[in-house]
Amino acid sequence: TSESENPAIKSPEPVHGGRPRTEQDWWPNQVDLRVLDRSVPEADPYGPDFDYAAEFAKLDVEALKRDLVEVMHTSQDWWPSDWGHYGPLFIRMSWHAAGTYRSADGRGGGGEGGQRFAPLNSWPDNANLDKARRLLLPIKQKYGRKISWADLLVLAGNVAHDDMGLKTFGFAFGRKDQWKPSEVFWGPEDTWLGDERYASESDPLDLDEGHLAAVTMGLIYVNPEGPQGKPDPMGSAHDIRVTFSRMGMNDEETVALVAGGHTFGKTHGAGNPELVGPEPNGCPVHGNGLGWISQYGTGKGADTITSGLEGAWTPTPTQWDNTYFEMLFSYDWELGESPAGAKQWGPSNPEAQELVPDAHIEGKKNPPMMSTADMALVVDPGFREISKKFYENPEYFADVYARAWFKLLHRDMGPTSRYLGPDVPSEELVWQDPVPAVDHELVGEAEIADLKARLLAAGPTVSQLVHTAWSAAASYRDTDKRGGANGGRIRLEPQRGWAANAGVDEVIPAIEKVKADFEAETGKRVSFADLVVLAGTAAVEKAAADAGVPVTVGFTPGRTDATQEQTDPENFRWLEPKADGFRSYLLPGSKLQPEQLLVDKAFTLGLTAKEMTVLVGGLRVLGANTGGVQHGVFTDRVGVLSQDFFRTVLDLGIQWRTSRDAEDVYEGGGADGSVAHTATAADLVFNSNAILRGIVEVYSSDDAAEQFAQDFAKAWTKVMDNDRFELKR
Ligand code: HEM
Repeated sequence: TSESENPAIKSPEPVHGGRPRTEQDWWPNQVDLRVLDRSVPEADPYGPDFDYAAEFAKLDVEALKRDLVEVMHTSQDWWPSDWGHYGPLFIRMSWHAAGTYRSADGRGGGGEGGQRFAPLNSWPDNANLDKARRLLLPIKQKYGRKISWADLLVLAGNVAHDDMGLKTFGFAFGRKDQWKPSEVFWGPEDTWLGDERYASESDPLDLDEGHLAAVTMGLIYVNPEGPQGKPDPMGSAHDIRVTFSRMGMNDEETVALVAGGHTFGKTHGAGNPELVGPEPNGCPVHGNGLGWISQYGTGKGADTITSGLEGAWTPTPTQWDNTYFEMLFSYDWELGESPAGAKQWGPSNPEAQELVPDAHIEGKKNPPMMSTADMALVVDPGFREISKKFYENPEYFADVYARAWFKLLHRDMGPTSRYLGPDVPSEELVWQDPVPAVDHELVGEAEIADLKARLLAAGPTVSQLVHTAWSAAASYRDTDKRGGANGGRIRLEPQRGWAANAGVDEVIPAIEKVKADFEAETGKRVSFADLVVLAGTAAVEKAAADAGVPVTVGFTPGRTDATQEQTDPENFRWLEPKADGFRSYLLPGSKLQPEQLLVDKAFTLGLTAKEMTVLVGGLRVLGANTGGVQHGVFTDRVGVLSQDFFRTVLDLGIQWRTSRDAEDVYEGGGADGSVAHTATAADLVFNSNAILRGIVEVYSSDDAAEQFAQDFAKAWTKVMDNDRFELKR
């Protein structure tokens, strides 16, 4: 058996007994608002005012790195290192921390240290990485709040590379820890290594829900033994290609990563895997929080059982070199089994049987090994060509690998303005969605007032200005800090042409003209990105004044305009919204309900339930729906920031029926069947759901007109500034 069939790594059985039922247990159709309960700052053990960047600034980075190297070279009796070096184990830990990232929704990744918590800490693929994290505890204790776990977990693998001879591309700190796991949809399966996401024979991994990055529950990417345990290198190549592309890696980066990673270390499958105990989260209180305790032999060192595969890929597993490809291309590989019963490949050549020194036993020599996933790199024709090129050009391989490794670790960190520390590379990489630095004086109060007047007089209506500003800013997703108004990419492809943004094409030229006229007349400069936000700001202020509740909407200039060359359409297509309930936009065919999608959008914008409510109520009456759709526009004063949405949605005089003409649409009106309004579930949920209704009741009250305008302005500014990381420091 193996990692995939290992009976010792049983799936925990969900038990409901004895705990209070949640609302979702009783009423699974109610939208789950818990994801919008933003973490309470007081719950951070470092306190509500903890500023990681400020603490990190006091860190002696070089001393920390020296200490890491020492830990790597100091074998501990409770978990002896292979060949006296924990480097390979740390690399696997860092890769598994970062490798949960997926491009489709930006979730996963090592950005918050999520590997410390369930389910990740107990995934079968993360077996024995609990030991790796514990090896780092003395360092964490020594440096305390100056280094986050999240940074440490990915830094350890990076320093390991340097220590074993690869020149790394760079490293950025800046990952702030979470203190409880994020709720992530990792897949539909109820068992470890369940693989219900293999949807059909023709396109086995085409799963609508979020393009999950892994093929099975509990794995980072693919099963090492091949698809669903079958030792089929071509099938494995397909799975590898699909899953790695779902985190934005192309074929060359993919081959480099697998080959470069497996240049180091070994697999562990010394014996009977049934002797391995439960994962950390399934352990008793007296288990020290460690999992996978094994009764096989000493349970560690030479007797270690992790994946069930056994052996090293190269004769020099603690050294960066080209031997991984040397092995693959020099020998004939045949299918066999590890002592734990996992399917793996070994060289049939007699001269290859004693190439690898044993990790623990003096004088013992072993043959190298390959997993089915490794074989894919020379069996699949496309991968093989790349492997050959790497084999023949070691320096090229080292460069591609170092860059891909850097991308792997930093993919979920967003723009470089979030990067901290002395090792940040100066080279600009297109996957970082670069935005230029500010190179001119920013507009001051007088210019801002002038520009607001020009924008309001430029032609587009309040509705159009609000819709365009929202479209620019709402591309942000907090999951991987990508998108947002900065860069002015709303005027570039592909964003300009997204269906959710229909209509911005008419507004953008008007804003561009304001920019050109202003710059020509005053000799001053302003970015398009600032102007598109300011257009929304001016429109919201006008709408509030027209409602009799004037407010000042916060605006901080300083955005800059990216170029089309700095905007990779292939990479940006992941940000295209399938739904944006704030604009009543929904791409047909989604499996999720409109109100669930609205909550998901609110989550990725970093909003609370209150902020979501105040924004929807305001945006509807401002007429910000995409394409002028009328759903939820419960007012005859469109463009005025009135409380009409809240009052109408609560109005029991309106009877709602499902529309006969349009799917997912409701019609509301009198008992005689007349239709006064149309709506979707993303509107009516504000009455049907008791928690949201509680908030709506507040904003519908006579005493709340001013509060509504103020709260709307505040939430609006939050969305506009979501990607202004330099302001949050
Ligand atoms: C170890 C599979 C990609 C780095 C392993 C092990 C397996 C495996 C089964 C053995 C675990 C054990 O028994 O201890 C895979 C598969 C991959 C993949 C199926 C994707 C197709 C990567 C990548 C990296 C990496 C992208 C890093 C860039 C490592 C390292 C080890 C390892 C350094 C050795 C750990 C040790 O010596 O303790 N991998 N891996 N792997 N993997 Fe991968």
